[in-house]
Amino acid sequence: MKVFKTKTELKTYFNGYSSKNFTIGFVPTMGALHNGHLSLIKESIKNNQITVASIFVNPTQFDKKEDLENYPRTLESDLSILQGVSCDIAFIPSIEEIYANTVDANHFEFDGLEIQMEGKFRKGHFNGVGTIVKKLFEIVTPTNAYFGEKDFQQLQIIRKMVQKNQLPVSVIGCPTFREENGLAMSSRNQLLSEKEKEEGAIIYEILHEVKQLINKESIEKINSWVAAQFDKNPHFELEYFVIADEENLIPASTISSNKNYRAFIAVHADKVRLIDTMAL
Ligand code: PAF
Repeated sequence: MKVFKTKTELKTYFNGYSSKNFTIGFVPTMGALHNGHLSLIKESIKNNQITVASIFVNPTQFDKKEDLENYPRTLESDLSILQGVSCDIAFIPSIEEIYANTVDANHFEFDGLEIQMEGKFRKGHFNGVGTIVKKLFEIVTPTNAYFGEKDFQQLQIIRKMVQKNQLPVSVIGCPTFREENGLAMSSRNQLLSEKEKEEGAIIYEILHEVKQLINKESIEKINSWVAAQFDKNPHFELEYFVIADEENLIPASTISSNKNYRAFIAVHADKVRLIDTMAL
């Protein structure tokens, strides 16, 4: 596996590649790799001649300094994990390489996708995500880029950005990977205590129950039921629970049979913030 830190190294490598007709699969990450990331990388390896995984903790998508500082950083083990699955290239740029002297996000219009859920609770987050993903796409020039459905709002926003900017890349969403107890895999799980990881099963159980309730109860009743489950749980504090239209992410108050819906949830376990989602 090649490990590149600069855009020039990456470009030189692609220029020297013998075949002119090759596809580049790209998996952008912020490191602290888990099996969810690996499933994206394996999918990319299966479908492309070259797979690039980037590891870059992007400062402009964090709204809280403390969250950025506490984000898990495990570069050495990440690189050996990537090596272990035969990823072709790890791209691990510095902040200066990506942002030069101005560590600022650009402003994006995502047709309202950005004002819902994560956008409400993490101000500026999606401008940061849009900025870094666009920069990385320009550097890596992928044919296909892979993103987890756990961050479904992010996935829809990246699709929108690609569509609006007519970027020549296919964005591929891949299913959420879960721990045995149902807790969605996330780099942030490394910050949870064993007890919290165990209790984290409640997030999946609640989403699963909502899927059973969706055709039987009103959305109002489901919302109150979810809130009540967290009111009696001492380990997790509910930040939001929303049932929304998958396409435009607008919260639903009733269900129409010709639309697809998804439940979205964000909770806090002490200082760790977790999100999850489930198609209903
Ligand atoms: O999902 C993530 O890990 C990040 O938001 C991403 C897409 C790598 C951009 O920094």
